[in-house]
Amino acid sequence: MNDLAGKHFVLGLSGGIACYKAAELCRALIKEGATVQVVMTEAAEQFITPVTMQALSGRKVYGSQWDSREPNNMPHINLSREADAIVIAPCSADFMAKLLHGRADELLSLMCLARPIDKVPLLLAPAMNREMWAHPATQRNMAQLDADGAHILGVGTGFQACGETGDGRMLEPPELLQDIIAFFQPKLLRGKQVLVTAGPTFEAIDPVRGITNLSSGKMGFAIARAAREAGAEVTLVAGPVSLPTPRGVTRIDVKSAREMLEATQPHAQRADVFIATAAVADWRPASHSERKIKKDGSGETPDLAFTENPDILATIAQLPRAKSGALFCVGFAAESHDLVANAQAKRARKGVPLLVGNIGPATFGAEDNALLLVDEKGTRDMPRAPKLELARALVAEIARRLP
Ligand code: C5P
Repeated sequence: MNDLAGKHFVLGLSGGIACYKAAELCRALIKEGATVQVVMTEAAEQFITPVTMQALSGRKVYGSQWDSREPNNMPHINLSREADAIVIAPCSADFMAKLLHGRADELLSLMCLARPIDKVPLLLAPAMNREMWAHPATQRNMAQLDADGAHILGVGTGFQACGETGDGRMLEPPELLQDIIAFFQPKLLRGKQVLVTAGPTFEAIDPVRGITNLSSGKMGFAIARAAREAGAEVTLVAGPVSLPTPRGVTRIDVKSAREMLEATQPHAQRADVFIATAAVADWRPASHSERKIKKDGSGETPDLAFTENPDILATIAQLPRAKSGALFCVGFAAESHDLVANAQAKRARKGVPLLVGNIGPATFGAEDNALLLVDEKGTRDMPRAPKLELARALVAEIARRLP
């Protein structure tokens, strides 16, 4: 997807070892369709060369406010006026302190000060040693920069170049990219709590075997991401899948349908929206053997009997609630045929206002999907598109239906 198509960024690098990650971020922004103008401080040039950044961005790097390439000799004005956002990555502790005071003694800080504050957002990706990060001065500066309208992208935790371990690493380029993309999404669910189930469930027969299905979890994970991008607080209850957790989403891993219900129920009390995308196994083996069931050579097969699993969506949709206001429940139907009739019948049976139908075999594991929305008014097709694009459109549909 070209999530940043048509967007132009000033990517500012201040001095820090994380400058090496800025090279990858630059590439990632461009791959997502953006154009990038790199501006580097003198300190940044100690860590990575402008040649690298020029080659990756396809544009000459700016480093000096006296750069005579600009006819009016005002790169701080010209470059900031054409940008959709200024991203400082890495943003050093020193650079934060400069921004805080409105210092303007070199091009990058001058440009940040000169940017039209309502039109050109300033996104900061801090990067520093854990003690520098934890220092009251840095924390104070960060809070003030936030109050001044900058958007702080947060930091990572882990092993640092200095040999210490803790908070303060710059976020990884793919994380920064997701956060930057999210920044531009409309905040249709700001202040809302969204609960999503996703993936298959696994119903154990014995310690090494079980029954499951082909759901990849991709649609549900895309919906969790889209809801988060829209400003919601998102809890994702995931069956056994090996997908990365979307940024900013709280994930709870479960295996069986009963575990999924147990994990989902308490969160449903606080949620505003529940989206049940999980392909929950309808039945589980009636008994579970603690030991592996052995083949004894006689040719006899084990007698497997099944019990019906609880219906998570139907249970949650009928829950009495502590929180005032109804929980808006959205069901999914993965069918192999007669999508419209099956989806309409399922909406009625589950007692939910919105049901989303899709053809299971055509979408399980795929990167794209086609959806059919069924509500009390009728049906609407969402033609085949990448799952994230459909997820964003579905989030918008849900937001429209909330009180
Ligand atoms: O009944 P069926 O499995 O076709 O219904 C699909 C919808 O119900 C999906 O939204 C799915 O997440 C939900 N479901 C559930 N618990 C089950 C079975 C289905 O939440 N045991």
